[in-house]
Amino acid sequence: MFKDFLQMKGVTKRQLETLLSSAEEMKRRIKSKDKFSDELKGKIVATLFYENSTRTRTSFEDACKYLGAAVASLDVATSSVQKGESLVDTAKTIEAMGTDAIVIRHSVSGAPKLVADSVDIPVINAGDGLHAHPTQALLDLFTVREHFGKVEGLTVAIIGDIKHSRVARSNMESLTTMGATVKVFAPPTMLPMGIERMKCVVCRTIEEAFVGTDAVMGLRIQLERQQTGLFPSYGEYSRFFGINAERMKLANKSAIIMHPGPVNRGVELAYDVLDADCCRKDEQVANGVAVRMALLKAILEEKK
Ligand code: CP
Repeated sequence: MFKDFLQMKGVTKRQLETLLSSAEEMKRRIKSKDKFSDELKGKIVATLFYENSTRTRTSFEDACKYLGAAVASLDVATSSVQKGESLVDTAKTIEAMGTDAIVIRHSVSGAPKLVADSVDIPVINAGDGLHAHPTQALLDLFTVREHFGKVEGLTVAIIGDIKHSRVARSNMESLTTMGATVKVFAPPTMLPMGIERMKCVVCRTIEEAFVGTDAVMGLRIQLERQQTGLFPSYGEYSRFFGINAERMKLANKSAIIMHPGPVNRGVELAYDVLDADCCRKDEQVANGVAVRMALLKAILEEKK
């Protein structure tokens, strides 16, 4: 299918459908009594997280365990990175140990590509800077398809910090490849330069973002990426850009709420929708394991 999985750009509809179908099978399996297999027995997957993570890292590691692969988890904070070892040298060291694949998250856009160009083993991007988070987009796609039975013809609104969001960029690619329309709405300070050229419709009002929409995706306010204050306060952000029950009444009848997590509770998502049935954030987390199993299997079995 592919050696590496670095971004959604360039991934075809057919490849996405293959991964989604495989993930469906993986999800069924996780829910069954026989959730462990030995399909990737003998394989070692290294996880290199240069940036914090709960969902992505744990779900990749769970996915390995469900498939019988061993996990080598590099603790960057206590590794030789702290002695000045470069990213490429670290990756080559991991490869030299006989590791079969690297899963990497890095704060610098393009870091996974640099690693992929330097080693012969597959590299999976678990989120790089502002660039891409392709496995998040894959689980989002799975969540939408699971709920609606299709993606084509649906409208997904992404609301929030588009400028700093690798999740938004990857979702624009994958959702439009599958035939959905993507709308975005954000404070002007949170829209990137050149947004008009991206695969989305820019909404001018919050009502425009909700009306006719099937899935509303909130994005976390990323304080760690903001150089300066891009909005006055959390309270004002919530008032003007938050997803709440009243605004959800404007969306289509069976509309769902999504959020990649972690959520700033009461900010991107109001308390009145956080635990509502239409809020799929926990299902997204569950789906993250299934899609990462499908991806690891596709990449590592291909290598075999
Ligand atoms: N959605 C996401 O990437 O979450 P983590 O940062 O917890 O991995």
